[in-house]
Amino acid sequence: MAKNKLRRFADNATMDCVFQPNLETAMADSFPLKGNWHADYFKNDNPIIVELGCGKGEYAVGLGKLYPKRNYIGIDIKGARIWEGANEVRSLGLKNVAFVRAKIDYVHAFFAKAEVDEIWLTFSDPQPSKPNKRLSSKIFIDRYRQFLKPGGIIHLKTDSDVLFESTLEEIAEHGYEMIEHSWDLYKEMPEDLDQATREILTIRTHYETIFSAKGFKIKYCKFRIG
Ligand SMILES: C[S@@+](CC[C@H](N)C(=O)[O-])C[C@H]1O[C@@H](n2cnc3c(N)ncnc32)[C@H](O)[C@@H]1O
Repeated sequence: MAKNKLRRFADNATMDCVFQPNLETAMADSFPLKGNWHADYFKNDNPIIVELGCGKGEYAVGLGKLYPKRNYIGIDIKGARIWEGANEVRSLGLKNVAFVRAKIDYVHAFFAKAEVDEIWLTFSDPQPSKPNKRLSSKIFIDRYRQFLKPGGIIHLKTDSDVLFESTLEEIAEHGYEMIEHSWDLYKEMPEDLDQATREILTIRTHYETIFSAKGFKIKYCKFRIG
């Protein structure tokens, strides 16, 4: 393994903002922060927003900087990517951003019922031949339901037509409430979009930058699952 990656893994283990629960902990449902993020980590009652498949955590960190009175948690399995966001959190001394290195398949083991206010899915893998592995598939949405507050919002931003189309189909098929959507966000932001959301949507992730440069249209939707 590349030396740089090993260095980042070792550094992750020393950072207060990085949690790396193992599979046994997830399976035994014994992650100590589950139900205790407010009291034991953030030390406040502010809303918790989770970025799934966060990579370097551009949304978790970017939103954490914009909104100090909200708490952000980025989750990804790739430790070297998480390190980038976590290192920025450490350098800036942000107390409202954390990272969990784990598979999103077990995300319901890390949060208690109604502990989370919003979820961001940022440039999730489109999984063209494995629809059940898409982070907006019913299997995953039913996991999020276990910890998302009633009325909690899911945001999805993607370059992928396949993922976006299938997400819109899932929303229609399962009767989720569509709030906003655009097939070409930077050309036509939905007209009724409030100023705060417009500002938030200008945050660009690593993958977004790559795919925008290749000419892919960036798509966005915001919905409630009930
Ligand atoms: C295409 S990248 C996007 C990263 C980042 N959000 C961005 O926009 O730059 C997808 C990310 O999701 C993570 N990911 C995909 N499936 C996952 C899973 N089941 N559990 C944990 N992480 C996952 C990958 O490790 C990868 O970092």
